[in-house]
Parts: sequence; C-alpha cells; structure tokens
Amino acid sequence: MGDVLEKFFVVVGLLVCLVYLLKCLRFTKYIFLHFWKVLPRSFLQSTGQWAVITGAGDGIGKAYSFELAKHGLNIVLISRTLEKLQVIAMEIERATGRRVKIIQADFTQSNIYEYIKENLKGLEIGVLVNNVGMLPNLLPSYFLNVSEEVQSLIHCNITSVVKMTQLILKQMESRRRGLILNISSGVGLFPWPLYSMYSASKAFVCVFSKALQAEYKEKGISIQVLTPYAISTPMTKHLNPNLITKTADDFVKESLNYVTTGEAHCGCLAHEILAGFLHLIPSWAFYSSAFQKFLLTWYSDYLKQNANIK
Ligand SMILES: NC(=O)c1ccc[n+]([C@@H]2O[C@H](COP(=O)([O-])OP(=O)(O)OC[C@H]3O[C@@H](n4cnc5c(N)ncnc54)[C@H](OP(=O)(O)O)[C@@H]3O)[C@@H](O)[C@H]2O)c1
Repeated sequence: MGDVLEKFFVVVGLLVCLVYLLKCLRFTKYIFLHFWKVLPRSFLQSTGQWAVITGAGDGIGKAYSFELAKHGLNIVLISRTLEKLQVIAMEIERATGRRVKIIQADFTQSNIYEYIKENLKGLEIGVLVNNVGMLPNLLPSYFLNVSEEVQSLIHCNITSVVKMTQLILKQMESRRRGLILNISSGVGLFPWPLYSMYSASKAFVCVFSKALQAEYKEKGISIQVLTPYAISTPMTKHLNPNLITKTADDFVKESLNYVTTGEAHCGCLAHEILAGFLHLIPSWAFYSSAFQKFLLTWYSDYLKQNANIK
C-alpha cells in the first residue's frame, strides 16, 4: 500500500513539474521574441494590400496604423473624429508613402456597418485590427455608480468586433489569407470586480476570438486576441509610462513580434509576466472585500497621482 502511495505522489510531482516546465517554455518563447525579432518584414504585407484599424484616431489604434504602414500595408483608418483622422492620414502618407483611406464612424451606433461596407468595397484586406473600445470608469467603481451608457459600451466593445469580422472575414476566407488582431484586455482574462462591464465585454472578445481561430485556422487565417494591461493613452488619461505601463508605440511594436505565436497573448513581455503573477493570486483573495478595498484606496490613489485625472 505504502509503495503504491509513494508511486502515486511521484507521478503527481512529475506532472506538476511538467506543467511548470511548459509554462517556462511559454515565457522563454516571449523572451526570445522580445529580444530577437524574427517576424520577416514581408509577413504582414503577404496577407493582403490593406490593413483596417478601428479606433485609429488615437492611442493604440493610431500606433497600429503607423506601424502597419511601415510594414508596407495601405491603411484604412476608422474612428469618430474626422479632423484627427485627416491629420494622421497625412502623417502616415508623408512618413511611409502608403495610401490611407478614412472612414468616420461612431461604434456606439449600430447602423454604421452598411456605410463601412460600402467604403471597404474593392479593397484587398489582409489585416483587421479590432481595436476600438471604451472604458466607462478608469477609477475602480461599483456597477451602479458607473455611467448608464450600457448599450453604447456593448456596441463599441462587442458589436464592433463581431460586425467588422463579419464584413472582412469572408474575403479573407476566399483568398485563404488574413490576420485579425482583436484587442481585448488583461481584465478580460478573468472577472475583475469594480470594472464589471468592461471586464465582461473584454472576456467576450477573448472567447469569441479563440472559438473563431479554431474554426478558421485551417483556412489560412490567423485570429489573435491581445490582452494587455496598462498602456498610456487617452483612455488611461495618459498614465505615466513605466516598467508595466507601456507607451502605445512600444506596445504595438512589440506586439507585432508575436503575431505568429498563437491564438492569445498579452502583447508584451512585461504584461505576460504580470498576468503570470495575477494568476497566482487565489480566487478567495482576489474576490475578497479586502482586495476591493485595496483597489478603491491604494490603486485609486496611484491612478490619481500618475494619470491626468481632474
Ligand atoms: N489603454 C489601455 O491601458 C488599454 C489596456 C488594455 C486594453 N485596451 C484596449 O485597447 C483598445 C484601444 O485603447 P486606447 O487606450 O488606445 O483607447 P483610446 O485612447 O480611448 O483611443 C481610442 C481611439 O478610439 C476612438 N474611439 C473611441 N470611441 C469610439 C467610438 N465610439 N467610435 C469610433 N471611434 C471611437 C477614439 O476616437 P476619438 O479620436 O474621436 O477620441 C480614439 O481615436 C481598446 O479596445 C481598449 O479597451 C487599452
């Protein structure tokens, strides 16, 4: 009996070691790609002539627009404020020589997709970045204290991803080539109290992307979901960059090194490590009232001191 028990514990121990070894290998892959960029410069261009980026007028979307143009793609900028898009289009054309098309649309509305479809007609689209999103509360807040624009948030964070994918995936499927990057968030990896609506909307993006990748990977299409944490943009009130808080440009440059690494990642090594630490917190601690108190006090103070919050 003692012998069997001993063998059982040895097997369990070996399995635990194996699981951690696999996790280490995953990190090794990111560390390798962080320092040695192995994505061939022609890879993104080989997917098609155009890249479509939603929420392209600022922050992460603007950074993707510049970076993808540098990789040789023509760019379709879709966002809300026309003047911002016009300036960015001029800057991209001047800096990279690529063509830029502008589509003004408000993703909180559900009746914009026919107009977008009309404007995308005839373009060979290789890359779609479903980036647009809204965060109703930067400071942690109880659900009932957050603005009541629930429908807008659902349209902007969820409907936009589904509808834009519907519009573009069909032509990618017929050419058997294409890359879709869906920008979710680290708070979509598991439920975050005090960011309930945002966290749930980003969890949708994760689940949708992974299911879709399973359906379409055999058809030559890569669908990747990115789950970053803090990035200094207008959404985070230009939170001061540091080891964890990335600038949009740094984040986007690094994230493009990982486009061939699988269905999901955080987009940068620092956030991959942070996600690893957060996963170690037991759920009884994470969902305790003490943790919520920590978010409402210490984390709120940190945001107030480091972001441009009035
Ligand atoms: N920043 C972060 O720390 C962070 C972390 C994780 C995930 N994310 C996700 O990354 C994505 C981009 O975030 P970001 O920080 O770059 O956002 P951002 O700073 O708010 O800028 C996003 C751009 O999207 C546009 N936009 C916002 N609402 C729109 C709407 N209803 N219709 C059309 N365009 C709209 C804005 O238009 P205007 O130019 O008109 O303002 C702006 O150009 C979001 O999905 C966000 O959830 C961000």
